[in-house]
Amino acid sequence: MLSQQTIDIIKSTVPVLEKYGVTITKTFYKNMFAENPQLLNYFNHANQQQGRQQTALANSVYAAAAHIDNLEAIVPAVMLIAHKHRALGILPEHYPIVGQNLLRAIKEVLGDAATDEIINAWAEAYGVIADVFISVEEDLYQKAEANGGWRLFKPFKVAKKVAENDEVSSFYLVPEDGQPLPEFEPGQYVTVRVKPTGSEYFANRHYTVSQPSNNNEYRISVKREDENTPAGVVSTFLHNEINEGDTVELSAPAGGFTLVENNNPVLFVSGGIGVTPLNTMLQTMELGRNVTFYQSARNNKSVAFKEQIEKKIDELNGTYRIHYSDELGYIKKEDLAPFIQPNTEVYVCGPAPFMESVISIAKELNVSNENIHYEFFGPLMTVNALQKA
Ligand code: HEM
Repeated sequence: MLSQQTIDIIKSTVPVLEKYGVTITKTFYKNMFAENPQLLNYFNHANQQQGRQQTALANSVYAAAAHIDNLEAIVPAVMLIAHKHRALGILPEHYPIVGQNLLRAIKEVLGDAATDEIINAWAEAYGVIADVFISVEEDLYQKAEANGGWRLFKPFKVAKKVAENDEVSSFYLVPEDGQPLPEFEPGQYVTVRVKPTGSEYFANRHYTVSQPSNNNEYRISVKREDENTPAGVVSTFLHNEINEGDTVELSAPAGGFTLVENNNPVLFVSGGIGVTPLNTMLQTMELGRNVTFYQSARNNKSVAFKEQIEKKIDELNGTYRIHYSDELGYIKKEDLAPFIQPNTEVYVCGPAPFMESVISIAKELNVSNENIHYEFFGPLMTVNALQKA
């Protein structure tokens, strides 16, 4: 338990650290990677270059610290991060490295303003927060191992590679050890680890499993990103250099963006390749539930899984709308209003600005927070944003 004095110091210094958050965490990453280059096997170099991970980690440590006397409040956000950490193979021994480097960076940036009293209070608070993550993550590791799963990464062979359209290819992945695969919940992702040509370190990316569970294979569907952007490193490598018969490594399925079991009407709203988890959820639904699939894509060349969705929606007597944003622009309130009742469960997946806009439309149409379910692509911007959404 932290003393009241420590809690007071933490709470009063959160705003200062927030103000210098990005500078502190830039310093932190620079020092940490210089002394622990092996950690570059875990971090997304593209996010690093764009400064996105800096903001994510800084903000979440401060948000956690601001709730240090009521950590219950941040459990939902911790869960989402913990799933990602577990999928990447982050281990308890990594936490002190992050902690020491964070404290050192605070001291370096704030100078004399960071007194021993302040640094000691933050060391204690970081220890408490790290313990929460470590224990939640250990729980997830044990769940991943249960029912024939595995703890870290294992090799999978590409059994089949199929182009879904000009931009998206599906990879059918079969475990090399021949073991039956554990079931996963539709909406969960697997993390692919590869060493792109010319790279000294592993690169990891999370991809939603794009077909319902079966014991033999996982399918992922990967959008081709611009190869000149850092974000396209893994996608370009998979598209251009990974073919049938090649090997990639996978960690066991992770993630908490899954279908809630009840009888409320369901509205799926997808943007671009965000269609993948929503289509997997749709494919597992049974007749009797009122369902609408609202799919936004740039144009008819970039729309993915159209036939599959059409067929399943027919079976379920549901409604399917495709919204071509090149012609119609962004989704508007009146587009979604006919499919929303107060008890509708709304599932949203797509790029961050798309999600923000759909979430606010759903709220304007009186859908409660509990009925709005979403998964961001890329790093969660801030824990605060999550709590508000
Ligand atoms: C209490 C301490 C920590 C907090 C609050 C924290 C917070 C976060 C947050 C908010 C994200 C973004 C999640 C997302 O992508 O949606 C993240 C991702 C990540 N974290 Fe942590 N983290 C902590 C400790 C660690 C440790 C000890 C490591 C390992 C050295 C680590 C490695 C990573 C990696 C590799 C990612 C993915 C980011 C990327 O791909 O660039 N984190 N963490």
